[in-house]
Amino acid sequence: MKELAGKVAFVTGAASGIGLGISTALAQAGVKVMMCDIEKDALDDAISGLKQTNADVDGVIADVSLKAQLQAAADATMERFGRVDILVNNAGVGGGGRYGEWTDAGWEWTIGVNLMSVVWGIEIFGPLIEAHGEGGQIVSTASIAGFLPVTNPPYNVTKFGVVALSEGLRTELEPRGIGVSVLCPGFIRTKIMDSARNVPDRFAGARDTTGEGANLDHSEFAEMAREAIAHGIDPLYVGELVREGIEGNWPYIFTDNEFEPAIMERFANVKAGFDRIRGRVPRH
Ligand SMILES: NC(=O)c1ccc[n+]([C@@H]2O[C@H](COP(=O)([O-])OP(=O)(O)OC[C@H]3O[C@@H](n4cnc5c(N)ncnc54)[C@H](O)[C@@H]3O)[C@@H](O)[C@H]2O)c1
Repeated sequence: MKELAGKVAFVTGAASGIGLGISTALAQAGVKVMMCDIEKDALDDAISGLKQTNADVDGVIADVSLKAQLQAAADATMERFGRVDILVNNAGVGGGGRYGEWTDAGWEWTIGVNLMSVVWGIEIFGPLIEAHGEGGQIVSTASIAGFLPVTNPPYNVTKFGVVALSEGLRTELEPRGIGVSVLCPGFIRTKIMDSARNVPDRFAGARDTTGEGANLDHSEFAEMAREAIAHGIDPLYVGELVREGIEGNWPYIFTDNEFEPAIMERFANVKAGFDRIRGRVPRH
């Protein structure tokens, strides 16, 4: 998508962190942005901040782990802006619990917000992008954890899922004029470690598996991640990369090279698995 000015974007998790960075960078490029979030006060503040820069933005409250609320947010976007060109499935939560700690509620919450919202986002907004015949872009936020399962299992699983969904749909949606990108951030300075603030009541049992509740995640990785995120990359820089990724239809939007060697090591281990059986003839 070469010319962004005048396009319409729908961004989830837009009240904070990376979603706010993406909304800001798109608005600075002249994109009209419908900002969606579960947290009303933070969303109001984010919108009024952007409006002061003359950005054409508006907001809608939705819990994206509920399909009906995402559908209502899409309806509100069409009513307000009349079209959608860019979908950014960014809302996400960190948590779910490590082995021995995880709960059904933790898994359901994490899968609902991090993965099903992306499935439903594509299902609901894909046809809206197709409808005007000018094509568009879908960007979904996964993580380095979508290539390297280093955090807690529910989070890793959802982020691998977002990578799989994006890679698979990229080929399928290309003939329909829709580009598909997956954003895989490293450590970004956001409120992700405070995800417990947004646990919907129906997943209340998940609060203890976020690392902020009773079962504090004291794993070495969680301690290191907390520190790294506190001093992480500026979310607006990530937003600017996403804007560039949309303009260039990048398949993968990475934010930095910190985990590149570890991901390459994983690929080398996969290759070693193939090498181990090379030359053997399968019995049919
Ligand atoms: N911060 C990092 O280092 C990092 C690294 C890799 C991936 N990510 C991913 O980036 C995305 C954005 O997270 P962030 O780091 O900006 O954290 P953040 O907590 O600052 O922002 C997340 C936003 O999502 C919203 N949200 C949470 N649950 C929601 C729900 N059910 N419905 C609607 N909105 C909801 C929150 O209110 C918040 O505004 C997530 O998908 C996260 O997994 C973050």
